[in-house]
Amino acid sequence: MVRNLVDRLFRILNEGQRKGRPGHPGNSRLSTISADFRSSSPDPTMNRLDTPRLTLMALTVQQMRWQRDSFARLEQALGLAASGQRLEDELRPIVSRAISHIRRRPHHAHWHCQWAAVLKEERRIVGSLAFKGPPNRDDEVEIGYGFDPSYHNRGLATEAVGEMVRWALGEDGVKAVIAETANMNVASMRVLQKVGFVITSATQRYLYWKISF
Ligand SMILES: CC(C)(COP(=O)(O)OP(=O)(O)OC[C@H]1O[C@@H](n2cnc3c(N)ncnc32)[C@H](O)[C@@H]1OP(=O)(O)O)[C@@H](O)C(=O)NCCC(=O)NCCS
Repeated sequence: MVRNLVDRLFRILNEGQRKGRPGHPGNSRLSTISADFRSSSPDPTMNRLDTPRLTLMALTVQQMRWQRDSFARLEQALGLAASGQRLEDELRPIVSRAISHIRRRPHHAHWHCQWAAVLKEERRIVGSLAFKGPPNRDDEVEIGYGFDPSYHNRGLATEAVGEMVRWALGEDGVKAVIAETANMNVASMRVLQKVGFVITSATQRYLYWKISF
């Protein structure tokens, strides 16, 4: 029963993707941030990507510590509006692990750091994104993301993920960006579909997605 549902979903989504892939990176100009990364220190201080509504800021180790321990301090340091947010408990160990990865391998900072999505109009952090490490043996990097519920369904995650994908696919040694979603996470599935990801496999609980040139 669940398997049938997954198969059906798989077919519907992939059919939609064949019909139109509005956010496919192949259709867009790559951002120039990769050059900035390469020319800067390993710590990605203030490296950023821009979309029409968002600035995506690659956080430094110190900024990630503030993100984990004192969100208000992070917002203050970045000159942003105080939102009263705090990092969700389940994300804290993820940020701590990312910090220790960066300390051990600073040249991989941009594949481990958190990227804060700042809504330009309000100068407010409305989401965060991250790659889950440097390219794997198949030259793939995996992306994860979460947005503030007050800002859902405005296309912001799609805008941010699309730009992160465009940037990643322009980096040396990256052939594809992958992602996984829980089968019931329709919003996340829709984000990936709109960006141009296709489903590569499925289990009873998860769908696995990929986008490449
Ligand atoms: C997934 C998430 C990042 C999406 O953020 P967002 O900014 O709302 O995303 P967008 O607005 O770009 O796109 C959401 C799409 O999902 C659709 N959607 C949302 N809830 C839906 C539902 N219950 N049923 C059908 N479609 C739904 C929206 O209508 C929109 O599609 P549309 O543009 O075709 O109308 C956000 O829901 C989130 O943070 N969830 C919790 C964390 C998470 O699940 N992260 C992903 C882990 S893989």
